[in-house]
Amino acid sequence: MSLCWLDGTLVNEDQAKVSVFDHGLLYGDGVFEGIRFYNHRPFQLQPHLRRLLHSAKVIGLSIPYTVEEIADAINEVIGAFAEPDGYLRLVVTRGKGSLGIDPSSCKRSTVFIIAERPAFVAPHVQKKGARLIIAATRRLPPDGLDPRVKSLNYLNHILARMEAVQAGADEAILLNTQGNVTEGTTDNVFVVRDQQIFTPAVTEGALDGITRQVVLELAGELGLACRQQTLSPYDLYTADECFLTGTAVELIAVREIDGRMLPSSPGPVFHRLQEAFRNRIQNEAGYESRKSAVS
Ligand SMILES: Cc1ncc(COP(=O)(O)O)c(C=O)c1O
Repeated sequence: MSLCWLDGTLVNEDQAKVSVFDHGLLYGDGVFEGIRFYNHRPFQLQPHLRRLLHSAKVIGLSIPYTVEEIADAINEVIGAFAEPDGYLRLVVTRGKGSLGIDPSSCKRSTVFIIAERPAFVAPHVQKKGARLIIAATRRLPPDGLDPRVKSLNYLNHILARMEAVQAGADEAILLNTQGNVTEGTTDNVFVVRDQQIFTPAVTEGALDGITRQVVLELAGELGLACRQQTLSPYDLYTADECFLTGTAVELIAVREIDGRMLPSSPGPVFHRLQEAFRNRIQNEAGYESRKSAVS
């Protein structure tokens, strides 16, 4: 059962309701974060809170809580959740206003945090890798909305995901208006070629993913060469390995792109990064200290 912190009150799924006049609902006017917790501890909390504040600042949205109060609320939800591991959705909408688009009628933004059991990746995809398509739907250009803003506007990502489902694939890659690779619908994309790792720069139109940043860091620690550079569909089709990163999916190998099989999935570089990522989770979640406290 999901649990929700809604503007200061913990409520269950059925009581978690916002107004039909909320501009988050009427116009997608708001920002959000998806955050994992492991062993009752939020993973990468500071980067998530920083990104939320930056997203809100860019769209001129004031959050009626301090960052400490939001962190406390997150810990309150995690503490009340039935399981030690889970997924949080932290959302700040413009709040309730009049029907017009002008947000000045919205006097106070709405903040809620949903806690749920994560079930984003099917076990066979986890094991063998995802099948991707390159969507006809393009990523919105960065000169429309900076891709670093994690806003409530996901319509073209939804359309791209619908294309994937229609094609019997697991995920879609969105290209930018130049035809270069940006990201998946809810994840960042990496390729491996000749032992080197590549991912598109955020300026191509990708979200500055927190999992992406952790993976870039881990690649550095493992001594793996990693570059941010423009990638075309050709680079995806001919990669030695390809994988996706995101809070929801964590790290997922890719086995097929538009019907072209990749030589290895999950590949050796993916395995190394995935192991390092799991270790990072273990460390942040304090599993090590818990073990040593028992022994
Ligand atoms: C469009 C998009 N790209 C990438 C990501 C991955 O970002 P993160 O690793 O911060 O979850 C997400 C996550 O929700 C996303 O929505």
